Amino acid sequence: MSFVARPALRAASRAAALSATRSRLALAVGRTAVARSYSTEAPKTEAPKAEVPPPKGSGNTLLFTVIAAALVGGGGYYYYSSANDTVVVPVVPKPFVPTYEDYKKVYDDIAASLESDDYDDGSYGPVLIRLAWHASGTYDAASNTGGSSGATMRFAPEALHGANAGLEKARDHLEPIHAKYPWISYGDLWTLAGVASVQELGGPTIKWRPGRHDEDASACTPDGRLPDGDKGADHVRSIFYRMGFNDQEIVALIGAHALGRCHTDRSGFDGPWTFAPTYLTNDFYKLLKEEKWHWRKWKGPAQYQDSTNSLMMLPADMCLVKDKKFKVFVDKYANSNDDFFADFSKVFCKLLELGVEFKPNQESWTFTATNA
Ligand code: HEM
Repeated sequence: MSFVARPALRAASRAAALSATRSRLALAVGRTAVARSYSTEAPKTEAPKAEVPPPKGSGNTLLFTVIAAALVGGGGYYYYSSANDTVVVPVVPKPFVPTYEDYKKVYDDIAASLESDDYDDGSYGPVLIRLAWHASGTYDAASNTGGSSGATMRFAPEALHGANAGLEKARDHLEPIHAKYPWISYGDLWTLAGVASVQELGGPTIKWRPGRHDEDASACTPDGRLPDGDKGADHVRSIFYRMGFNDQEIVALIGAHALGRCHTDRSGFDGPWTFAPTYLTNDFYKLLKEEKWHWRKWKGPAQYQDSTNSLMMLPADMCLVKDKKFKVFVDKYANSNDDFFADFSKVFCKLLELGVEFKPNQESWTFTATNA
């Protein structure tokens, strides 16, 4: 019985095994997206959906992650990496946007740095004013090149132009302040230093606004854009008219020579213009008019000397009283310190802004002098 039954049993189990194999085969083929029952049927290319596992983070989870990342990241960005199935959100630091308060800190640090017993007449102010002026006075209105934006005097050849001799003292003096506030452009720093120096040395309040961008050496201006001290009215006019100034503005600007001095190892000229070279007043105009000036007898370049032989005037200064049109404004400023301050405040601001492209809504600011 058992013997007879065995073949039948084997056949039955063989049939069952064959059927199971067929089913497994059908499933395996289905996973490769080609399921076919008979050879005459066209292959079905649609993958059985149940066979494909859903990607991690798909559907609602992925949507939630992306929205959360966008909210947390703010202005950042994200991308979906299919390689490791994650949403990658790089941390994009928000750019530092300095405010008035930040510039005020820079102003105050410049103001605090000016006094020095070891330097010249006791203040870095005059040489910082000259730095701001020489950075700005390269402006050429016709080509709209030069000016304080770019701060190209950091580079040769502009740093080596004869007119800029000695200004490394001013640039070097400001380096620690730039290191402390590395976000400020050199053009903004140098002009703000000019403003701080005028105000801290007793001058008028000067409006100032930020917006200068540093450029590289390729933006250096050609030599010859700044005035020579040994020349007269024609030269002075041609230099300042090129920047866009008129006679009144020229005379008001040069009143800054109430401050500081000439150095034989820089320009070759020698001595201060006034008896109080660290205090801005209209003394330059008064002395120009009232002193008896004579040529100094010395081996240096031709310059004028006062009756006490302690003050000096450049030929370019003296042309302001020799030229009748200039002299009108020398008289005006010699008679009124208020008039000089009012006009100097406007024209010095104009000088520092020549050629600068400010943001349309950038307001001008004033900073209170620390000694006010
Ligand atoms: C015709 C125009 C000008 C000429 C020829 C001229 C020339 C000079 C010269 C030769 C020096 C001496 C540099 C040295 O040896 O250290 C000097 C110094 C100075 N200039 Fe002028 N300058 C002119 C206009 C201006 C203007 C427009 C300003 C400012 C608004 C200015 C501000 C100064 C100051 C503050 C100093 C003293 C710098 C110090 O003490 O180190 N100058 N200038």
